Amino acid sequence: MIKDVYILAIETSCDDTSVAILKNQKVLSNVVSSQKIHEIYGGVVPELASREHDRLIIPVIKKALNDAGMNLFNINAIAYTRGPGLLGSLLVGTSFAKSLALSLDIPLIEINHMQAHILSIFIADNPEKPKFPFIALTVSGGHTQLVLVKSYEDFVELGTTLDDAAGEAFDKSGKLMNLNYPAGPKIDNLASKGDFNKFKFPKPKVDGLNFSFSGLKTSFKNFINNQSSDFIQNNINDICASIQFTIIDILIDKIIEAKKKHKINDFVICGGVSANSFLRKRLKELEKSSDIKTYVPKINYSTDNAAMIGINGYFKFINSRFGSFSDSSVSKYKV
Ligand code: KG4
Ligand code: ZN
Repeated sequence: MIKDVYILAIETSCDDTSVAILKNQKVLSNVVSSQKIHEIYGGVVPELASREHDRLIIPVIKKALNDAGMNLFNINAIAYTRGPGLLGSLLVGTSFAKSLALSLDIPLIEINHMQAHILSIFIADNPEKPKFPFIALTVSGGHTQLVLVKSYEDFVELGTTLDDAAGEAFDKSGKLMNLNYPAGPKIDNLASKGDFNKFKFPKPKVDGLNFSFSGLKTSFKNFINNQSSDFIQNNINDICASIQFTIIDILIDKIIEAKKKHKINDFVICGGVSANSFLRKRLKELEKSSDIKTYVPKINYSTDNAAMIGINGYFKFINSRFGSFSDSSVSKYKV
C-alpha cells in the first residue's frame, strides 16, 4: 500500500488548459492557462480551443511539475477529464493522458468534469468540508444542475436546466452589452458599482428543481435593443447589477426549494459561476436567515482547473477505480 498518493491531473474540457499535481488531498501545483483567443468571438470556438490545448499542454505540464518540485517518476497515476466537454478539446487531454500513463506504466483514471467540480470542495485548503449526504448546485458555462451527493461515488441528478446554463445567461447578456467572453466576471465587477433595483427582469416559473434562463435572455435582449448605446453606456453598472440580481435570485430560490423537498441543509455551490461575488454574498445572507449551510470552494478551484480533477482522481485511486486504455465508450460522461 502506497503511503502518499501523487496524482498528475489534466483538464482540457473547454477553453482552459490545466494541469495540477496533488499529494493526497493537498494541491502542490495547479497551473491554468486560459485561452484568450476566444474573447472577441463572444464564446468558445471549439476548433480553436483544440488547437490551443495541443499547443499549451506540454508547457503547462512542465510548469506544473516545476511548481510542485516533482518529476514524472514520482507520479502514481494520471487523472484526466473524460467528459462532458468539447469533443476535440477532450481528445487532446485524453490522448495525452493515455500516452503518459502508458509510457510511465502507471494507472489511468477517468474523471467526470461536473463531479470533479462538486468534489473540489474536499481539496485540503478549503476551510470547511461538508458531510454526506449534501446537495450540490453546479453552475458553469455549460451546466446548471442540482445534484444529491451521497458519497464520493454516488451522484443523483435532482434538477437541470431546460435550456441555457447560468454561465451562458451571464455570457450572452454580456455579449449584448459588447462585453468580451467570458462576460460573467466582467458583469460581476461592473455590478459591484450598480443598483440592482434599477431595472426589473422576469423570473421564469419552472416547476420542481429544474431551471430555465431562455425567457430571461429574450427579455434582456428586447430591453437592450430598445435602448440607445449612450443609455447602455451611461447605465452599464445598474444594468449589470440588475441582470446579475435576477440570475442569482433564480439560483437562490431553487436552493431553498431543494432544501424543503429533500430535507437536507448542506449545500455545495460549485462551477465557474460560484466565483460570483454577489452569489457569495447572497449565500451568506441565506445562512443567516435560514438553517441552510453552504460550502463554496476557493475561487481558484471554482472556475475550470485541474486540481478538482486531481482530488476526484485521489478518491478513485484509493478505491482502485482505474480507467481503461481501450474503452472508447463515452456515454456515461455525456460527451
Ligand atoms: O466552470 P467553468 O469555468 O467552465 C465550464 O465548465 O463551463 O465556468 C465558466 C462560466 C462562464 O460562463 C463564466 O462567465 C462564468 O463561469 N463565470 C462567472 C464568474 N466567473 C466565471 N459568472 C459570474 N460571475 C463570475 N465572477
Ligand atoms: Zn467547468
